[in-house]
Amino acid sequence: MKALVYHGPAQKAWEEVAKPTIRDDTDAIVRVDAVTICGTDLHILKGDVPAVTDGRILGHEAVGTVEQVGSAVKTVKPGDRVLVSCITACGACRFCREGRYGQCLGGGGWILGHKIDGTQAEFVRVPFADTSTYAAPAGVADEALLMLADILPTGYEVGVLNGKVRPGDVVAVVGSGPIGLSAMMGSRLYSPSHVVAIDQVDARLEAAKGFGADITVNNTREDPVAVVRDLTDGLGADVAIEAVGVPATFELAAQLVRPGGQVANIGVHGEPATLHLEELWIRDVTITTGLVDTYSTPTLLKLVRGGQVGAGQFVTHHFGLDQFIEAYDVFARAGDTGALKVVLTRGG
Ligand SMILES: NC(=O)c1ccc[n+]([C@@H]2O[C@H](COP(=O)([O-])OP(=O)(O)OC[C@H]3O[C@@H](n4cnc5c(N)ncnc54)[C@H](O)[C@@H]3O)[C@@H](O)[C@H]2O)c1
Ligand SMILES: [Zn+2]
Ligand SMILES: [Zn+2]
Repeated sequence: MKALVYHGPAQKAWEEVAKPTIRDDTDAIVRVDAVTICGTDLHILKGDVPAVTDGRILGHEAVGTVEQVGSAVKTVKPGDRVLVSCITACGACRFCREGRYGQCLGGGGWILGHKIDGTQAEFVRVPFADTSTYAAPAGVADEALLMLADILPTGYEVGVLNGKVRPGDVVAVVGSGPIGLSAMMGSRLYSPSHVVAIDQVDARLEAAKGFGADITVNNTREDPVAVVRDLTDGLGADVAIEAVGVPATFELAAQLVRPGGQVANIGVHGEPATLHLEELWIRDVTITTGLVDTYSTPTLLKLVRGGQVGAGQFVTHHFGLDQFIEAYDVFARAGDTGALKVVLTRGG
């Protein structure tokens, strides 16, 4: 079969590799029907994720059709259309029993396209198939469903739910990439009074208006702290969500929040950020961090089916599976191409 293989920083190829086979009796082999590229894949290609080594097939998001299952798989069977989640769950360890699948101690967590071969291929081996895949509901298109593999649960759990968004809140989201936009879309479910989108790229801020932002701030030209203070009688945002992953944006989120408010960090950080405790200690601020667990996937599936979450809106570009190199290029140049999520489909 063909797969997108990582060969060290800045090196990748769409090349012939061995088709995966069942290794453990809890595995499934899934034929990939639709797959996408994540900002985290770009981090890997920059060499920021050293656990990913030469020869690894990338990708941690897919919708596909089950081809084969191991003898211990109970609920998934050949022919089933499934969502392959970015988080794999053994289902039995202490953290899985708490719904903290991202921290799985039994061989799960974020492993696809990281510690084991991933979904950017014609076929993928999915460990712990019963607890790591979700039956695809009829009537939801593959590309909409695909947004539930990573970005929607991430924005919702690590942004909206960790940030405890409540009716009437002013929610400031720093970063309007797919993750920030997911957080805006998820915040809207709670009737905030305002969602403020902050980014340095006008195209992203334009997109944010379609995902629930009613105020946009380009922080290369305007001071988001002043905008949010004007909106809140000088107090600050009830919830500030960080969706970039650099020190400046974390520090901005901490400046944006009101006394007693929440800072929810989503961004993956590669270097230390300054925590201004000398200013924060007296303000009763709560700061949360997190890797997505995907415990919200069943809820989000219902919201997508019911039309309350327009998952298909994220998809800006379509490719066939053999156009991975082109798709990576379009996704990596999002500033020029306007890409949010690119989807590659079998026969597409
Ligand atoms: N915690 C998790 O479980 C989890 C899961 C998935 C992704 N992530 C992380 O979430 C972050 C966002 O992901 P994404 O796919 O949306 O990334 P992205 O790169 O597409 O979007 C980031 C946005 O931030 C903007 N930006 C950059 N610097 C800025 C600044 N100084 N001020 C304001 N805006 C700025 C960019 O213009 C861009 O629109 C990444 O760090 C990603 O690795 C975390
Ligand atoms: Zn991802
Ligand atoms: Zn586990």
